[in-house]
Amino acid sequence: MKRTELLRKIKDEVVDLKESPLYRERIKNGVFPVIGEGNHCAKIMFVGEAPGKNEAETGRPFCGMSGKLLDEFLASVNILRKDVYVTNIVKDRPPTNRDPLPDEISIYGPFLDRQIEIIKPRIIATLGRFSTDYIMLKFKMDSDMESIGQMHGKVFVTKTGYGKIKIIPLYHPAVVLYNRNTKDILMKDFQVFKRFR
Ligand code: URA
Repeated sequence: MKRTELLRKIKDEVVDLKESPLYRERIKNGVFPVIGEGNHCAKIMFVGEAPGKNEAETGRPFCGMSGKLLDEFLASVNILRKDVYVTNIVKDRPPTNRDPLPDEISIYGPFLDRQIEIIKPRIIATLGRFSTDYIMLKFKMDSDMESIGQMHGKVFVTKTGYGKIKIIPLYHPAVVLYNRNTKDILMKDFQVFKRFR
């Protein structure tokens, strides 16, 4: 099967994911799951946490305030959003944008695992502590794990079934909305992508 078909299958399964507690919320609110968007052969995959209000209303990842910031950071290193793939661990919006629960991460994580296997990115950039922890644990890098404050902007190399990849933990763009100083840190951390052209 081609990448697009395999990704479509993931979408169909998530749309019908009745065993998720967030499924009921989605139906009640008449919103959409957010599967992911971008180049199916992307070299870089960005992994966020979970859709927010704008994302659930449109079905598109990072299309609200956090998305505007992500676009700004990408533009600062001349990366086009259409060339990367952007997704989240949790594919449905947690009520009131609360942190995703461990059970929710367990339910949706396998879909992210499949997206990684299909797209085969050379770089996985994790946005925030939830996706950073998930990806570091997935690739058995427990011994390298520290807080996001320690790990942001560093490059970790790991092996996958399709070869070596790099994991780059970053602060979640939404932190800028609470603390303006973090914008400079994110801008600086994004410079790391210039090394991997
Ligand atoms: N925050 C996320 O983690 N993901 C989105 O898609 C939007 C906001």
